[in-house]
Amino acid sequence: MRVLLTGGAGYIGSHTALVLIERGHEVIVLDDFSNSSREAVRRISELSGVDVPVIELDLSDREAAQRALAEVDFDAVIHLAGLKAVGESVEQPTRYYRVNLDSTIALLDIMRERGITKFVFSSSATVYGDPIYVPIDEAHPAGVDLASPYGWSKFMNERIVHGAQTAWPELEAVVLRYFNPVGAHPSGRIGEDPSGIPNNLMPFITQVAVGKRERLSVFGDGYNTPDGTGVRDYIHVLDLAEGHVAALERIAPGVETYNLGSGIGSSVLDVVRAFEQASGQAIPYAVMPARAGDVAVLQADPGRANAELDWRTTRSLEEACRDSWNWQSQNPAGYHA
Ligand code: UD1
Repeated sequence: MRVLLTGGAGYIGSHTALVLIERGHEVIVLDDFSNSSREAVRRISELSGVDVPVIELDLSDREAAQRALAEVDFDAVIHLAGLKAVGESVEQPTRYYRVNLDSTIALLDIMRERGITKFVFSSSATVYGDPIYVPIDEAHPAGVDLASPYGWSKFMNERIVHGAQTAWPELEAVVLRYFNPVGAHPSGRIGEDPSGIPNNLMPFITQVAVGKRERLSVFGDGYNTPDGTGVRDYIHVLDLAEGHVAALERIAPGVETYNLGSGIGSSVLDVVRAFEQASGQAIPYAVMPARAGDVAVLQADPGRANAELDWRTTRSLEEACRDSWNWQSQNPAGYHA
């Protein structure tokens, strides 16, 4: 297939681009580079040996999107582009709703006008809120008391996809609810390159390891978990990327929703230990108060994706730590060396 990959220069997008190309698909990267780098696309081309075309575009500008895509030939859209900083979304809710909703709406309208029916949407386990049971399957209630406009924007986008499919039955859509992506391509050429101070655990740890930050703050050790720190389901970004390809290759009319996670819960201290082991670097840390909006445990039941997409994770947390460290140590300043 010829796949329009929005957000294709980002962390998940760059790995998804590579896996798509390896599986024989053509990729067109669409990105506004507001939180990503052209260098990432250059490295996708270098790793794959394929010259990847790029469209620089802010998708929430509907007219610009219509103009830019008018002459572009594609069979499917994987929509990853969006704003994703939870804390920032609390400060700038209208910006988050506008950018994250307008871009999906523009894409779906353009697809319908063009008769392009295949749509994969990047959602998040954040739509489950504070879970009432774990591991979380897709039948777990979603969109209840979410902690941030970011989370709501993901949930609203899911509703938009469902609404579009009701009105346009030919639409073939998959909603992928990601758990916590970590790791990098084993080459160390592409990886996660957050701007500013990382919000997420793994990039913070790798920046401590590389000497950019003094110590990790562990956000709370009083949760009802084995060691008191938050438990998450960490998934290697290449396993996640393969989940997108599996979803795309089995797409059919309707909307299907899948959790993409490993099914394994790891605490903050488990991740610290796994990283220390994989990298040989000590990670100093200090326990700080819990972060607002965090939940104790988020852990996937990936059974549905395993069965219906014939997909499962094959890479361990240790491999993810090794690959994250390989990326960060080779690129201490990310793409801006
Ligand atoms: C966060 C978002 C989630 C989003 C995802 C995208 C929140 C509340 N949730 O997930 O909506 O989809 O990122 O990647 O922000 N931790 C520390 N110290 C740190 C950073 C994190 O102890 O410096 C802990 C957290 O408390 C948590 C775990 O590490 O227990 C994972 O945190 P993080 O990587 O930020 O992911 P989530 O919060 O699960």
